[in-house]
Amino acid sequence: MSRILITSALPYINGVKHLGNLAGSMLPADVYARAMRLLGHDVLYICATDEHGTPAELAAQEAGLEVSEYCERMHIAQKEAGANFKLSYDYFGRSSAKSNHVLTQHFAHVLEANGLIEERTSKQVYSNADGRYLPDRYVEGTCPNCGFEAARGDQCDSCGKLLDPIDLIDPYSAVSGSKDVEIRETNHLYLKQSSMASKLREWVEAATGWPPLAKSIAMKWLDEGLRDRAITRDLSWGITVTNPDGSVRDGFDGKVFYVWFDAPIEYIAATQDWAAETGGDWESWWRTDKGADDVQYVQFMGKDNVAFHTLSFPTTIIGSGEPWKLVDQLKAFNWVTWYGGKFSTSSKRGVFMDQAIDIAPSDYWRWHLMANAPEGNDAAFTWEEFQAAVNSDLANVLGNFVNRITKYAVGKFDGVVPDGGEFGEAEDWLIKELDTRLSALVGYYEAREFRKAMAETRAIWAAGNEYLTKAAPWTHYKTDVPQAAVGTRVGLNLVALFGVIAQPIIPDTAEKILDAMNIPKENRTWNFRTAQEAISALPIGMAINAPDVLFTKIEDEDVAAWTERFGGDDA
Ligand code: MF3
Ligand code: ZN
Repeated sequence: MSRILITSALPYINGVKHLGNLAGSMLPADVYARAMRLLGHDVLYICATDEHGTPAELAAQEAGLEVSEYCERMHIAQKEAGANFKLSYDYFGRSSAKSNHVLTQHFAHVLEANGLIEERTSKQVYSNADGRYLPDRYVEGTCPNCGFEAARGDQCDSCGKLLDPIDLIDPYSAVSGSKDVEIRETNHLYLKQSSMASKLREWVEAATGWPPLAKSIAMKWLDEGLRDRAITRDLSWGITVTNPDGSVRDGFDGKVFYVWFDAPIEYIAATQDWAAETGGDWESWWRTDKGADDVQYVQFMGKDNVAFHTLSFPTTIIGSGEPWKLVDQLKAFNWVTWYGGKFSTSSKRGVFMDQAIDIAPSDYWRWHLMANAPEGNDAAFTWEEFQAAVNSDLANVLGNFVNRITKYAVGKFDGVVPDGGEFGEAEDWLIKELDTRLSALVGYYEAREFRKAMAETRAIWAAGNEYLTKAAPWTHYKTDVPQAAVGTRVGLNLVALFGVIAQPIIPDTAEKILDAMNIPKENRTWNFRTAQEAISALPIGMAINAPDVLFTKIEDEDVAAWTERFGGDDA
């Protein structure tokens, strides 16, 4: 048994997340957490809402709420959406929590003491109309390179050149459209990532078990030369910049830490809050001097988050000189695309978690999104593929198997696990098939290869159907009841096994199956060593029930209605 710490990238507070966010961080982290628990590991799965930054302030403004009130409400909404999707967080915190203020300030103090933070003057665009400094992507204007008139402050979408907002010609505020903007000098703290570059490179090069995507993004940044980054902003909502004695730092009134500085620290702070609530020991998960050296720490995130998790946050951790746990494995995902484009929170493009749960049970989404996880490439979402995944994999392969054999056992064997008969050719075939496939499945989960784990799970379910065709208890029943009993007994054992291995992916359905089979909660684990054992686990004479239909097929009319409602064909 190992101890596995799992975090998924903290979802921004500004709205319930879309299925692309879900599929690229929270959901695979949850499936992994559940799989590792199933395999008997000691798992701690932590997430939180990422509540600071300009997008939070602007979203609150748009909603007509105080930002603290807005965050409070959206945290609850996101927590509920997560619960509806059965995300099994051990703790779902908030980056605005007191613990994160304290810890973020602590890191800033030690980093500065270690010479890794420096105060510098910089030029920023201030909008008189909005009464605020404008972060890079909220300034627009004419591109000095190509003359495109709506270039964003960080990058020109027309010629692709990376920009500094103060270089824009005729700049205006993207918040209000006002041209009444000026350039002001302002002081900020800079994290000297450049001086950590060689240490970071060594660490990235030595890392094992990261997907190529994660490593190549980190190396690309290192090769381009790591730049020092401002870690404070001119905003009012966020974590105050303090001196070690707790007083506000001189000249830092109206400034807070940059959201990307404090957000990853919340992984630790949320664990502290988890500990405070449950009596757990947070240090044993995060402090290598307090037992965390034997923790395996796995992070899940979309590819846009990789640089922050492989370079900036490690600079904070390593630079502190304190014995904090660094990430061991990092699982990065590409995008789920929506009809040729991106899902988008700001333009409300795609399907959002709260809407998704209204139109289909969470298990349907969980299965489809994991079977098509954007691992090697971007993955396109289409309603037709969603329909096919549910109807064929879930309803036809798993659902039919379970219903067929449980109904048969109820009809012909009084709803108990029948005795009699002996294993023959069909069982030999099944045992061989399962021995290979079950160990492959464990391997895929351990390697966090989700598409492969899903394909293997489906293949195991399909092997059940093939077994029933070979064993054909219904044929034998007329002439050889003990022979029919073997097929039925093994079939029922397979139902239980299929329920057990379905738990990480489709927990609600798995529960229905295991409840119908009267499997005690404590036995719903990977507690068999061989396939032989797995298909002989149920006690003879044990009563079972046939569950209600497990999956409702998705009809073409449903697909048509959803396409209409969500504009799925606007490519
Ligand atoms: N909120 C960010 C996003 O959605 C992720 C933050 S991850 C953390 O892209 F490391 F900062 F926590
Ligand atoms: Zn340009």
